[in-house]
Amino acid sequence: MTENLKAQTHDKTILILGGTGKTGRRVADRLTALGRPVRIGSRSADPAFDWEEPGTWAGALEGIDAVYVTYYPDLAAPGASDAVRAFADQAVASGVRQLVLLSGRGEPEAQLCEEIVQSHPVDWTCVRASLFMQNFDEYFLVDAVRGGVVAFPAGSTPEPFIDVDDIADVVVAALTEDRHAGQVYEVTGPRLLTFAEAIEAISAATGRDVRYVPITPEEYAAAAAAEDPTIPPEFATFLGDLFGTIFDGRNAHVTDGVERALGRPARDFADYARRAAATGVWSA
Ligand SMILES: NC(=O)c1ccc[n+]([C@@H]2O[C@H](COP(=O)([O-])OP(=O)(O)OC[C@H]3O[C@@H](n4cnc5c(N)ncnc54)[C@H](OP(=O)(O)O)[C@@H]3O)[C@@H](O)[C@H]2O)c1
Repeated sequence: MTENLKAQTHDKTILILGGTGKTGRRVADRLTALGRPVRIGSRSADPAFDWEEPGTWAGALEGIDAVYVTYYPDLAAPGASDAVRAFADQAVASGVRQLVLLSGRGEPEAQLCEEIVQSHPVDWTCVRASLFMQNFDEYFLVDAVRGGVVAFPAGSTPEPFIDVDDIADVVVAALTEDRHAGQVYEVTGPRLLTFAEAIEAISAATGRDVRYVPITPEEYAAAAAAEDPTIPPEFATFLGDLFGTIFDGRNAHVTDGVERALGRPARDFADYARRAAATGVWSA
């Protein structure tokens, strides 16, 4: 998009799918602080946006110029690529000129979704993220940390966890600066940590004894289904398989996406753990 066009679109509303979620909420807060109008796209928003109800998409897209696309539950989930393709088609037809996609690292299905977005006549940016640090305090691992035992199928494979505040900074840069069009930013934290090391950092930050117990993907799926009866068994199996895949060693390296997009290093896990511990979220 030219500088001129970009200037003309500064007042246009940016749609943030998953705008109340871990990255979307932070992106919305940052854009609002910059004085940019935003619309939240989620089931609880008004108008509501539901990935599973395509009839809701037109209302969310009305008058929108740019979209931050986060898919729920996961770009690797069955049906995700069909939904992303249909959404991108409809977005272009309704006048959207920029798509910024949150993608997942080491997931072939997520990379297919990137290709779908890239094939559309828009300014696109793909932010391909490693596992979020905030899974430990804002998502599915928080109760396990509180309980003192984190059973997870990561073995001793290291992962360069990313701080979602860094993802939000990259996404906001992509939505507000021209130079990120056509870029795939593979974003990770600045160092590799095994799950055991991540849990050690959380123990150190909280002063509590928290343990990591490696389990198999099958054990993880069975435990997830048993703990939450609302999780369909096939989705529990999908989760176990997904973690088994991304912890097979393919993602065990650090990348420079945050530095390339923002010109500064990514945030470190120990800083994240100290900040999260200070909120009291992990108090038993
Ligand atoms: N977690 C990770 O470590 C990780 C790593 C790399 C990539 N990713 C990617 O990040 C994306 C988001 O995952 P997340 O775990 O971080 O979730 P999240 O963004 O925190 O998800 C919650 C958001 O999604 C909305 N939502 C839930 N169901 C929806 C539906 N059916 N239709 C529309 N909106 C819906 C929620 O609002 P409402 O409840 O109001 O609908 C909320 O705004 C996924 O595509 C995943 O592949 C995650």
